[in-house]
Order: sequence, then C-alpha cells, then structure tokens
Amino acid sequence: MISLLEDYSLKSHNTFNVETKTRYFVECDNIPDLAHFLKHRPHKDLPVMVIGEGSNVLFKSDYNGLIIHPFIRGIDILQEDHTGITIRAGAGEKWDSFVEWAVGNQYGGIENLSLIPGSVGACPIQNIGAYGAEVSDFIESVETIDLQSGKSKTYTLAACGFGYRTSIFKTILKGKLVIINVVFRLSKSPVLRTEYGSIRERLKNYKSIDISTMRNVIMEIRSQKLPDPSSIGNAGSFFKNPEISILELKAILTRFPKIPNHPSEKAGFLKIPAAWLIEQCGWKGKRIGNAGTYPNQPLVLVNYGNATGHEILTLAEKIENDVFDKFNIRLEREVNVV
Ligand code: EPU
Repeated sequence: MISLLEDYSLKSHNTFNVETKTRYFVECDNIPDLAHFLKHRPHKDLPVMVIGEGSNVLFKSDYNGLIIHPFIRGIDILQEDHTGITIRAGAGEKWDSFVEWAVGNQYGGIENLSLIPGSVGACPIQNIGAYGAEVSDFIESVETIDLQSGKSKTYTLAACGFGYRTSIFKTILKGKLVIINVVFRLSKSPVLRTEYGSIRERLKNYKSIDISTMRNVIMEIRSQKLPDPSSIGNAGSFFKNPEISILELKAILTRFPKIPNHPSEKAGFLKIPAAWLIEQCGWKGKRIGNAGTYPNQPLVLVNYGNATGHEILTLAEKIENDVFDKFNIRLEREVNVV
C-alpha cells in the first residue's frame, strides 16, 4: 500500500515534537510500490527526503517538498551456522524492537545499542553508537532504492564509508537514496563490551553477565541520563563529540588543564566530550523559553513545550558560538537540520 498526503503535519514524525508541515508525505509498506512510485513520481522538481522515526532531525520551518516514510517491515533469517546468524531487517522496523528481538533470541552484538530511538533504516546513516559499540560492526550490507530512478542497489560494508557517527549515506549520498533493508551479522558467542565507565560500575551488582544483563543495564543508564522523547521532545545528542589533533589539545591544556579527552579511531586525534564543553560554558540545564539543554546531559537539546524548530536552532547556535569563543573548538551537529 502507498499513500500520498498533502499539507501534512510532521508533529508526530519528529521526536523533537516540533509543529511543522510538509507539502507532500508518502508512506509505503512494500518495496515494489515504492520503487514504482519513485520511478514515476509526480513533482520531480520538488526536493525529496526520507524520514524514519524522525529521531535525528530538526525541522526549522515547513518543508516545501516530498517526504518519504518507508514502512517496510520484517525480520528474515538469511543464513545461520554455529557461530552466528545473518538477518535482513526492514527499514521500517523500530530499532529497539529489533534489538529486543535479537537479545531475546540470544543473538549478540547490538545489545549495547539498546533503547536508541529510531528505525532500522536510519541506523546506518549516522552509524549509531553507544557504550563502546557501533552498529557498523554488525552490518553486512545496506539495501537501497535510488530516489530519482527507483533502481535498487546494495552497498557492502566496505562501500558504506562508516566512521564515527557518519557514513556515505550522510555524506556523498545524502538525499539520493532510500534505505529499504539492512543486513546484519550477529553472533552466537558475542564479545561483551563492558568497559564503558558507567556500565562497569553497574555490572558489579551482577554475578554473571550475558547480553540480556547488558541490555538491562544499558536501559537503566539511558533512562536515568537521557530524556524519553515520548515525554520531552529531543533528538538524542545534538552535537558530535569533537575530534581534535594532539597539537590542538596541547594548546588547550595550557588554559584548561582539566579538559577530559578520550582516544579517537582517527590516528593522531582525540575526542573531547561535547557535554563537558557545553557545561563549562554555563549551558547545562539552561532554558530559553521552551528550548533548553537537558539537566542530566547537556549534549541533548530539548523541547520543553511548544518550541519551534527555529527556537531550538537559535539555542544550538548560541551554544556553538560560546564553545567556539571559549575553547576555539567548533561543535559539529549530529542532528540533521532541515
Ligand atoms: N559530561 C559532562 N557533563 C555532563 C555529562 C557528561 O561534562 O552533564 C562529560 C563527562 O566528561 C563524561 C562525558 O561527558 O565523562 C561522556 O558522557 P556520556 O557517557 O554521557 O557520553 P557522551 O560522550 O556525552 C556519547 C554519545 C551518546 C551515547 C553515550 C554513551 C555522541 C555524540 N553521543 O555521549 O549517544 O549514548 O556516548 O555511549 O557520541 C546519541 O548519539 O544521540 C547519543 C545519546
């Protein structure tokens, strides 16, 4: 089934809960109809974008174009052996329902990515990550359809260009495709990632640890630290943790000897927690009208009521300017501003 709606409200399609409209909204639950629609779609002159659960997007105004919401469901086992399992999951599956299914079946790998809002189709775009794991470690391939031609193409892991909170789908191919399925390889004897500070602390309360324990612990930590988008509008971390060179860090250390830093996957670079930079600029828990930073995690910007996208963006810009003025570090947005 495919439906085309006009002048459609996006309030329930963005976790910031911002009231905004799109000129056209297309929802589709199967691949042939979606491919056919894209090949022959009307309004080829208008911009087009894809939305999953809307958990990583901020609409600063109405969208004068066409938004596609692929609602392709299904979890299929493609191959299984004694070491693991290869699974194809539809883009429209809720990410955390997929994690719950995997953990429930004892397929390990993605348990540290529990409770991340969003859809399966969105997970490769920004290469979701948390508590020492990144989804790219478990992806075999990503199946897509071209938004202009309706042709399908599969990207192997190597072709996805994954990095910290990035992929080819967020860079060169941004706005060019719709992800329809993601193929994952999960393990029957997973390596548990227990080293992240807050996890290590909580795991001390358990005698034996398996992927279900990991999921429980992570769900506990997330619900205490991060706001639930169903009660307070937000899109998770608004900014990435900046990566700076060792030389830059040395220069900053002379003025701020306590600046925390962690190794980065990029050789010669270190990651600085953006939450710390924001807090040092006095923004932790601050609110301007209906927009603010979350008191337990200032990296998360929140909509306390009826904030507009513009208000949230203005707050983001003020934070970016203050961090730059104080530390000479430019914060890069993780959230997609449309
Ligand atoms: N910090 C502060 N003040 C605070 C909170 C944190 O200074 O109020 C500093 C501390 O130095 C702390 C450090 O920030 O040690 C790290 O904090 P946290 O463990 O909460 O993680 P994060 O680096 O702020 C990243 C991800 C989160 C993910 C967590 C846990 C990014 C942009 N964010 O946050 O991902 O859940 O690690 O792995 O990498 C998301 O992407 O939406 C997201 C929530």
